[in-house]
Amino acid sequence: MVGQIDILETMTPLEFLSFRRFLDESSGFQSVQFRELECLLGIADTFDPEWFKGDDGEYNRLIKRIEEPTLWDAFVGYLHRNGHPMPESATSRDPKAALEPDAAVQAVIVNAYRNDVRLLSLCEALTDLDEALQEWRYRHVMMVQRTIGTRMGTGGSSGVDYLKGTLFRQCFPDLWAVRSQF
Ligand code: HEM
Repeated sequence: MVGQIDILETMTPLEFLSFRRFLDESSGFQSVQFRELECLLGIADTFDPEWFKGDDGEYNRLIKRIEEPTLWDAFVGYLHRNGHPMPESATSRDPKAALEPDAAVQAVIVNAYRNDVRLLSLCEALTDLDEALQEWRYRHVMMVQRTIGTRMGTGGSSGVDYLKGTLFRQCFPDLWAVRSQF
């Protein structure tokens, strides 16, 4: 996903504006897959499912995703079942709720880092994923800025200003919090 942006950035503002009007109201806002990805990563509060009401298939798929456990819940469950008991706040949390940093969970993760090399690799892989999504957001907003400047988005948002507000949103806050605890 990040690699695609290099190609888009070969397009000058004039080239993009030569066909932008044909996009009409089409926009990245219509990507149900992107919202599904956000649901899986536990950040379902970034959008309103009502946006997808026009298409029953997409809407129902999204609602199902919102109800389902997230990648973080799977991770917590995995640690819990493999010798790293997690607090109840983490094992029985509402998957729809936004993830908040949890000191008790962080203590388990710090211990896993110190004593279990397999889990250490898993934690690093999840951190890579979190960082990669933030990297995509940054590359996308910079590409947008160099192509359309401060124009509004075709989806009706303020454009660059809106996208800047989505930067640095962490999916797994506990994995970032432990970095200062070693
Ligand atoms: C590989 C190509 C692209 C993909 C996969 C993509 C994907 C997305 C996604 C998923 C969003 C929603 C982000 C969020 O709400 O956090 C978004 C929004 C947006 N994108 Fe893109 N995008 C692409 C190319 C472009 C281009 C070429 C432009 C303009 C030069 C652009 C301008 C915008 C704007 C302004 C928004 C904010 C929503 C709006 O008002 O339309 N994107 N895009």
